[in-house]
This record gives sequence, structure tokens and C-alpha cells, in this order.
Amino acid sequence: MNDSPGFDIGKRAVGYAAVDDFVQDGMCIGLGTGTTTYWAIERVGQRVAAGERITAVATSEHTASLCRQWNIPLVGLLQHEMPVAIDGADEVAPDWALIKGGGGALFREKAVALVAERFVVVVTPSKLVSVLGAFPLPVEIVPFAEPYVVREISRWHPDVEIVRRGGDMPFVSDNGNWILDCRFGPIDEPRALDVALREIHGVVATGIFESIANVVMVGDENGEVRALPRI
Ligand code: 5RP
Repeated sequence: MNDSPGFDIGKRAVGYAAVDDFVQDGMCIGLGTGTTTYWAIERVGQRVAAGERITAVATSEHTASLCRQWNIPLVGLLQHEMPVAIDGADEVAPDWALIKGGGGALFREKAVALVAERFVVVVTPSKLVSVLGAFPLPVEIVPFAEPYVVREISRWHPDVEIVRRGGDMPFVSDNGNWILDCRFGPIDEPRALDVALREIHGVVATGIFESIANVVMVGDENGEVRALPRI
């Protein structure tokens, strides 16, 4: 593989462990996007090479490309039952509410996470926070509606800092949309914020994943993996 994100012992350990613990021969699984999920994809690829019949729904074109490199057969959403999906996160709160979308794949990641019977989140300790919000919240928007979305958010939250990802060379999502990275400060009520943002015409999805994770696994710099208890 020449698409490696660089070696990180914790990310590899947790990516591998999620596949070893939750993926069985014959399953259709969801595969997330990012430098931690990269290792889960590698592990699945090794098992496919060894003869297992695992298929995957990819959460991004980048992940689809990695799957092709590993000869992991790709299928569409809801083409098969999906017992498990594995994905990373940018922040994990003690109650397992997440911020995702640092890689810009939040819309498809949420679609896959919602379909999966079990959504397994793989992170390193740096992602664990007491309250969400230090990481700017990615909000996927229809480009045409950007001025309206920015105006509505700013009216409602005058202090929020809103930055279009990519600036004058906007990052374009796999769905043809743009991403606004929004600094709201500490997010005490993630669900309420997600609902309010999605009520703005032009907002496609937010990076808040609340009450979606079923398991959170943490891999540290010693290569040890633990399950994070939900508080
Ligand atoms: C992509 C994501 C990723 O899961 C998130 O950004 C974490 O990535 P990484 O494992 O590289 O830190 O949400 O949209």
C-alpha cells in the first residue's frame, strides 16, 4: 500500500482490534474514513486476501479507493444487512457523543453509522474530551446557500467563528457540497445544536453524532486497546 497515513501504533492497534473483535467472515461492513480507519481497512484487506468473503460499504471515495487496492468488494448502502461499521472520530465525549467530519466525509459516515447494527468507534486517547467543541464542528452545506447559512448561524450565535474549509479553493465533499468549520465553544447540548443547525435551509448534515456509537475503542501509544465505558 502506498497510501499509508504514516505509522501510529495506537491507531493501528485499535483499527486492527476492531476488525478482529467485530468482523466475521461473510459480513458486509461499513468502513469509515481517516487515518485510524485506514488500519481497519488494511486488516480487512488482509483477511480478504486470506480468503474471507467480507464486503464493504465505503464512507468516502478515498476509502473506496483503499478498498479497491485491497480487493475488498464494495456494495451500496442497504444492499445487504450491515452488522457492524467501524469509523474514527475527532472528539469523543464521556457519553459517546462525537464530533466527526475532520476528513470531510461526515454525511456518508453518518448514513453508514445509522444503518449499521453496531457502530464501533476507533480512536486514540487524544480524541477523548470532557465536553465537545474544541474541535471545530464540520457542517456540510449546499454551496449556493452558504451566505444564508452563515447569516442564520451568526444571527443565532453571534460569537461563532465560521470558516469555509479550503477558503477560496473550497474543499468539495464527495456529495459536491462545501464544509463550514464552526467554533461554537463548548457544546453542552449536542443533539439540540445538531437539530437547530439542520433546520437551516442549505445545511445537509453536521458532524455531531449523538446516540449513534455502540462501542468506543481506544488504542494508546503502547499498542494497548481498551473499551471506553460510557458515562
Ligand atoms: C472523517 C472523520 C474521521 O473519522 C475523523 O476525522 C478522524 O480521523 P482520524 O482517524 O484520521 O483522526 O470523521 O470525516
